[in-house]
Amino acid sequence: MTTAALNQTTLLLELEQVVEQNLERHITVAKEWFPHEYIPWSEGRTFDGVLGGDPWTVEDSPLSDVARSALIVNLLTEDNLPSYHHEVAALFGREAAWGEWVHRWTAEEGRHGAAIRDYLLVKRAVDPIALERARMDHMANGYVSAHQSDLLRSLAYVSFQELATRVSHRNTGRMTGDPVCDQLLARVAADENLHMIFYRNLLGAALQLAPDQTMRAITEVVATFEMPGADIAGFQRKAVEMAVAGVYDLRQHRDDVVMPVLKYWKVFDVEGLSEQGESARQELAVLLDKLDSDATRFEDKRDALKARMQRRAG
Ligand SMILES: [Fe+2]
Ligand SMILES: [Fe+2]
Repeated sequence: MTTAALNQTTLLLELEQVVEQNLERHITVAKEWFPHEYIPWSEGRTFDGVLGGDPWTVEDSPLSDVARSALIVNLLTEDNLPSYHHEVAALFGREAAWGEWVHRWTAEEGRHGAAIRDYLLVKRAVDPIALERARMDHMANGYVSAHQSDLLRSLAYVSFQELATRVSHRNTGRMTGDPVCDQLLARVAADENLHMIFYRNLLGAALQLAPDQTMRAITEVVATFEMPGADIAGFQRKAVEMAVAGVYDLRQHRDDVVMPVLKYWKVFDVEGLSEQGESARQELAVLLDKLDSDATRFEDKRDALKARMQRRAG
């Protein structure tokens, strides 16, 4: 037996109520916060150029290279918000509860890039010229969602992506060794967590509404997941650096991002799947096993690398 797939308009309409409820819930639990309170402004110093201050040098900041890389990747990812807004507005629409969410979410996300940039510039943590050039480069490329016209895949993607961003911000904050940065990124991470909950609840409702179609969407998204900043110039090298340092690695991706969301959806207990949905679920199980063994292989390689480096240092 196969079930007919619901089209995008039907899905949007059927989920409208769930959006309304979750928007209300979100607004009740989201705490107002002020980015300016998190920035140690008095530590700042004028740069060279127009105002004739001091040029940036790498000695200005005690950050490790990997902490610097992680902050840059996280900031550039946040910077591309106009493109993300375009993608979600085109898909969710700008009317009623869906539209209200799009605008509210965009407003919240807008704080993240602004606050992280303020921190980095005040603390002279990164080369400001290289950072601005990287931002121009990255934003000028734009971002195109891989699931552009597919509501269920998009909802599955953002459920994982918001949680991935949360984990990455949180671990980056710890990695800096600066309690001020850690506090700021923990605050940003708390926003990302609420975004994840919103999308996760929506997709959970979709799983009841259209189980086969939603199961397929989940499987496809787990199979092809990429971080939103994956097209940043030099991303692969930075991603490896971050994975080696434990800011975001495959183990965290599987155990702290993919699995908790799948568990919440109870994907392996969903009933009423047709053959289509069942085969998507079986593929998902295979993917999760592969992710697990890939993660273990990465951890083993990393342990060996660390042991080699220790021997060399000793
Ligand atoms: Fe964000
Ligand atoms: Fe977010």
